[in-house]
Amino acid sequence: MDSNKIRETFLGFFRDKQHAIVPSAPMVIKNDPTLMFTNAGMNQFKDLFLGNSPIVSPRVADTQKCLRVSGKHNDLDEVGRDTYHHTMFEMLGNWSFGDYFKKEAIAWAWELLVDVFGLPIDRIYATYFEGSPEENIACDDEAFNMWKQYLPEGHIIPGNKKDNFWEMGDTGPCGPCSEIHFDLRDNDERAKIPGRDLVNQSHPQVIEIWNLVFMQFNRKVSGELQPLPKNHVDTGMGFERLCMVLQGKKSNYDTDVFQPIITRIGEMSGIKYGQAESSDIAMRVISDHLRAISFSIADGQLPSNVKAGYVIRRILRRAVRYGYTYLGFREPFICKLVPTLVGQMGDQFPELKSQRGLIESVITEEESSFLRTLATGMTLIEEVMEKTASAGSTTISGDDAFVLYDTFGFPIDLTELIAKEKGMDVNLHEFNKRLEEQKNRSRNAASVQADDWCEISNTDETAFVGYDHLETEARITKYRKVSAKGKEYYQVVLDRTPFYGNSGGQVGDTGRMEQNGVSYPVEDTQKENNLTVHILPQLPADVAAPVRAAVDAESRQASANNHTATHLLQSALQQVLGSHVEQKGSLVTPDYLRFDFSHFQKVTDEQLRQVETIVNREIRANHPLQEVRECPIDRAREIGAMMLFGEKYGDKVRVIRFGGSTELCGGTHVAYTGQIGLFKVLSESAIAAGVRRIEACTAQRAMDNIYAVEDLIKEVQSFLNTPQIMQNLRKIVTENSEFSEQIEAFKKEKTAALAKSVAEELQPENGLVICARQLDLAPDVIKNMAFALKSELPNLVFVVGSNFSDKTSLTIMLGDDISKSGVNASNIVREAAKLIDGSGGGQPFFAVAGGKNPDGLEAAIVKATEMIKSRYFTAG
Ligand code: SER
Repeated sequence: MDSNKIRETFLGFFRDKQHAIVPSAPMVIKNDPTLMFTNAGMNQFKDLFLGNSPIVSPRVADTQKCLRVSGKHNDLDEVGRDTYHHTMFEMLGNWSFGDYFKKEAIAWAWELLVDVFGLPIDRIYATYFEGSPEENIACDDEAFNMWKQYLPEGHIIPGNKKDNFWEMGDTGPCGPCSEIHFDLRDNDERAKIPGRDLVNQSHPQVIEIWNLVFMQFNRKVSGELQPLPKNHVDTGMGFERLCMVLQGKKSNYDTDVFQPIITRIGEMSGIKYGQAESSDIAMRVISDHLRAISFSIADGQLPSNVKAGYVIRRILRRAVRYGYTYLGFREPFICKLVPTLVGQMGDQFPELKSQRGLIESVITEEESSFLRTLATGMTLIEEVMEKTASAGSTTISGDDAFVLYDTFGFPIDLTELIAKEKGMDVNLHEFNKRLEEQKNRSRNAASVQADDWCEISNTDETAFVGYDHLETEARITKYRKVSAKGKEYYQVVLDRTPFYGNSGGQVGDTGRMEQNGVSYPVEDTQKENNLTVHILPQLPADVAAPVRAAVDAESRQASANNHTATHLLQSALQQVLGSHVEQKGSLVTPDYLRFDFSHFQKVTDEQLRQVETIVNREIRANHPLQEVRECPIDRAREIGAMMLFGEKYGDKVRVIRFGGSTELCGGTHVAYTGQIGLFKVLSESAIAAGVRRIEACTAQRAMDNIYAVEDLIKEVQSFLNTPQIMQNLRKIVTENSEFSEQIEAFKKEKTAALAKSVAEELQPENGLVICARQLDLAPDVIKNMAFALKSELPNLVFVVGSNFSDKTSLTIMLGDDISKSGVNASNIVREAAKLIDGSGGGQPFFAVAGGKNPDGLEAAIVKATEMIKSRYFTAG
């Protein structure tokens, strides 16, 4: 069975069991401060488990793109070294939200694996939770008894908290679980050691394939387990592992999910998979990481230096490093694998197809830049090794390795590898100490501590009334104290709110809550999954009493102006640049808007004008807001509403239309485009390969911008004392260049005359011809004079100081007889320069110093002359 068929069979099986099949949520998470990436199929349903969202479909199934590279579930270090862990993988899952529980979950898992897929029973093992006295949870006898209907007792194994109690993160939904394991080993090996002894022992061929979690608790910050309002089922099956089992392979990488990519890497590197352990690992790493990076970019997460972007950048660099070290790649190569991946997975995940150009160009640029870093690092590490060797050591210090790592992005394992080739090693203990210190510094700077929620009343979710009202009476349903960056504030949740929480690029509303005549400022409103969280420095005095929640109307209007303008901008960009323009990021604040989009060249000034013109025309057309709040997603697709990859849409979506622009959007908008008044682009720039950024503003900010330009023009007019700026400036520039020419000619003439008169004045003195004085001329003029005199006078002592255009300098030229006698102009200029607070140097016969103290110039001339004389005569 090929992998696409396996996926389809899974989804079809649960469709037949009345499960709604939903799309994978984006892999990059936007609204959950506790998670950066989707690490399990259940993440998108977290709020359903916790009771923060109403349950619409009680049975759901999907295939979910997961990434396990940070936090509680992090498999990065295993990837490539073994044959069954991945950074990005697909998790096949079925869920019951307060509907069926253990019995059906176990029965259906069995039916699918054994009756549908035909797996042999004697190779299957199931585990169940043995209980935990310290958590006060009993042994899961229920699961054990159910498994007894299907499996011999010897195949049912009790497991501890580590293996059989599943938790999403340090806090959040959790519960006992029952895992299904499969023994892939050959019969003779199975005869030697029973499979049950190898379950959960990290054996590559006795592996977990499916985890059935019985969600019953919420883990609180305090560590306490709080029972959930209802019991749920959350199952997750590793798709790639299932493919391995069903295709009779011994490694995930031998399945049709990975083989086309591995074959392509083999063609490109000229190395065969299976040839050597190190190149095999490299091929596995690259084929795995290619998927993680490509899917992240398709979900809108570009590599960068912060947060999720940084994790993606590190994964990409890990792949480059393996290719560089073990497969000999010196040019970008990961980007060349994208077409193979798209061919393999593009049908199931259309975002790969439509974003292919962007994925390729972003990866190419990242790779090129990291390959340059590696080349620089190579030079640096050579220097470090030389330094280490000349100090008589064979151990590169942890400090040096850390500088290479931290400042130059040079990976520590590569430093170790290169050191080893030269018979050296690295002080890893010291390196790890530096690394830990750095981590602690950033951890302390970023640490956010949130108390547990204090629940006041139990409601499913907050009613958002902010599309229609800016004020409402409300009740606090829960609140908690949070400390971050030395500041304490409260997060408050209401039963209904007019406050828009930061999402979809639009920043959260500000405003106030009022109670008994006291006003409590709301500084921000954030979204945590489906929760709308108000940020207040001070909690209303009586948390059980009603509050009046009121949004700051002026800021809200300004945000609405910018949000609607963003829609008009996107539509205008597509008209002017083409339909390839797709949103890649957006920020809407009351102050300005920022819009990132895919486009491969600079947007010309003329195109920007066209875009501005279109947007302003649409503003003047005064289109009314046409809004459908509960539009079925299929209908929205039919009418061609713009949707984004990397966003999570439900069955019902909100469609926003202004004239020809139709988008899915949850943001707040103007009632008529005319309210925006004016739209003005502030800047256009590149933020990554193939991604451009436009910043713009509207309404009063746009007017202010125009005023600023007008004011500048007026200031120039008044300075030039004429309204004809350009005419006047042209005249000034022409005059200026004429004057410069005249000055140059004049200077030349003057220098020649001066040199002549200086030469005539000079008299031999004790066999020397001394020219020691201050001449405030340009350094090049003095130099020319010095060389002219030296060619005439073998016994010249030329010591000239100058203050010219705010620069103080001292020039020394010695005739051949003097310099040959051993007097060194360079040493002397350095010594004398101290008197002008300067430094300098040069050659034995000619040296120059610059300084900062013009008052010391005279003394410096005297000192230098005296030193020359005394050294010459002593030498003579
Ligand atoms: N949440 C569980 C897991 O990730 C089952 O889906 O293993």
